Amino acid sequence: MTSARPVDRDAIDDLERELLGRVRGRVLEIGAGEGENFGAFDLDVEWIGLEPDADRRAELATRAREWRHTAEPLGAVAEAIPLPDHSVDAVVGTYVLCSVADQAAALAEVRRVLVPGGLVVFVDHVAAPPRTLKRAVQRVATPISKRWCHGCHWDRETERALLDAGFIGTDVRRMRAKSLPFGPVPILMFEGRAPDRTTT
Ligand SMILES: C[S@@+](CC[C@H](N)C(=O)[O-])C[C@H]1O[C@@H](n2cnc3c(N)ncnc32)[C@H](O)[C@@H]1O
Repeated sequence: MTSARPVDRDAIDDLERELLGRVRGRVLEIGAGEGENFGAFDLDVEWIGLEPDADRRAELATRAREWRHTAEPLGAVAEAIPLPDHSVDAVVGTYVLCSVADQAAALAEVRRVLVPGGLVVFVDHVAAPPRTLKRAVQRVATPISKRWCHGCHWDRETERALLDAGFIGTDVRRMRAKSLPFGPVPILMFEGRAPDRTTT
């Protein structure tokens, strides 16, 4: 179900923090940007960041130290995560599945590095329903945003991609964020799990 009424940015941010606050253990954050999410994590998580953009990664490293995270952020893309199989308890990403070049490859990598039954939290803007004006606008905007806004795609069916990658939704919220000038933007908040050993 999608929220009937558009919600404001603060409400989206609060929900995002709530979901990120649930992860525990060894946590990989993909496309961590400049470390906007540090305040949301439980202070005991063992955070590992991955960020391909060198300038952003430098800022991320500084902020990670301020939050007392000792691991140096990884300079890599989510499509090729430089971590061993089944080595993290959770993977999170906010507004990054819109940006990765190959969603299926990135999600296959996320599954590979997660322990069986491991937790994922992804928050992103997603495609509007088919045959709507909003979807047509997203289709037109995507070639431009892909080139100029860190690879951002406005028209991705991210929930479908997560399910196709084998993740099982445990708390899935579909919202519409208030936005100008083109009106509400569909947002997906997906908490889910990788299959455990009995279902792989
Ligand atoms: C819109 S920003 C979001 C940053 C941060 N997660 C946030 O919520 O503010 C998208 C981030 O994904 C990174 N990114 C782009 N392509 C990527 C890829 N293939 N793998 C991992 N991160 C990627 C960008 O460098 C950028 O920092």
